[in-house]
Amino acid sequence: MNNDSPISNSIKNSSVLGTKVEKLPTPSLLLDIGIVRSNYASIAKKFENTVCKMRQHGKNLKTPKLALMQIEAGGTVKGVCSAKVSEAEVMVFGGIKDILITNQIVTPDKIIRMCNLSKIADIKVCVDNIKNVQLISEIASTLDATVGVLIEINTNMMRAGVRSIDDALNIVKLINILPNVQFRGIMSHQALSEYQGEKHRKDTAKNVISRCLEYKKAIESEGFPIEIVSSGETFSYDVSPTLAGVTEVEGGTYALMGTVYSYFKEFEVANKLLTTIVNKPDPQTIVCDIGYLSMPKAGDELLQIENLPNVKFKDMYKYHTVFTSSSEISLNIGSKVKLIPNYQDPLIDSWDEFYIIENDVLIEILPIIGRGTFH
Ligand SMILES: Cc1ncc(COP(=O)(O)O)c(C=O)c1O
Repeated sequence: MNNDSPISNSIKNSSVLGTKVEKLPTPSLLLDIGIVRSNYASIAKKFENTVCKMRQHGKNLKTPKLALMQIEAGGTVKGVCSAKVSEAEVMVFGGIKDILITNQIVTPDKIIRMCNLSKIADIKVCVDNIKNVQLISEIASTLDATVGVLIEINTNMMRAGVRSIDDALNIVKLINILPNVQFRGIMSHQALSEYQGEKHRKDTAKNVISRCLEYKKAIESEGFPIEIVSSGETFSYDVSPTLAGVTEVEGGTYALMGTVYSYFKEFEVANKLLTTIVNKPDPQTIVCDIGYLSMPKAGDELLQIENLPNVKFKDMYKYHTVFTSSSEISLNIGSKVKLIPNYQDPLIDSWDEFYIIENDVLIEILPIIGRGTFH
């Protein structure tokens, strides 16, 4: 092949920084950094003068660089939430020294890693039972480490979290007599998502988070001061700061967004999937070169194609996604389209790197170093 032919040039240049987005290989995971900055600026503004601050959840970023951008933009506690010890390690080694692990860490191998991490960063973990606290204290003592502990409160999910104030108090009392664990506060996660208008959203969030605040009152009235009340998520991010006592909100999705939260006008979707149309079996149907191996199925009906609102999701296979329209689709085989995902957590976890774009040009290839199913 001639080395200067259009085909060889396109092979050589396909992922070089400075490449225009339409020339990038597909499928690829794009991240529009200008939109991320704008989403972060909305948070910085909202939390500029509030007591409650954002503690961003890194579950959908999985890279410290993106979390540090929010910390630099402002409005945060200067720390993040991590779902797993491995994600906490990635954040700490990336330069973030204030971590809340929002789950229970119950096996000795991971508790050891968490304790080691607590020697170089402020590590806090959520607990909801006595045995777990005893084990953390025992291992932390052996390793000469100190781990901060928050009691997880079940407000509505019936997943993790203590179910009664008495249970919470028993754990707080135990933490206060055990060595190498330090009581720091309480946490609740609500996973609220059903949107029925602004009033309903805010009332729902307030009602549920208020249950967590009842625990704060009860624990403090027994003489145990609470430093941290960590409660709220994207759905309730602007409600938490209006509730006296909540010190931080655990927003995750707002950063990159998904069509699932399209009612928030202050946040836009920053992560999109660049795909090529590989089949057009009839004028109203197109098939893109991406499937559920790289875009896990989750509320697929919310998957959209940028600038093609009338083309709707029909079906998804391992390597293909089918879209249809009631009228003829103007694009043909070989055209590239951007898909707008509804929800990013499982999506981001399927990719090794973000293609960071600005003004539709590739400016960086950012490894998603915290991804994967390892813990
Ligand atoms: C414990 C916890 N906090 C906060 C969040 C963030 O939720 P959202 O993505 O809705 O902001 C999650 C999401 O998985 C979570 O599990």
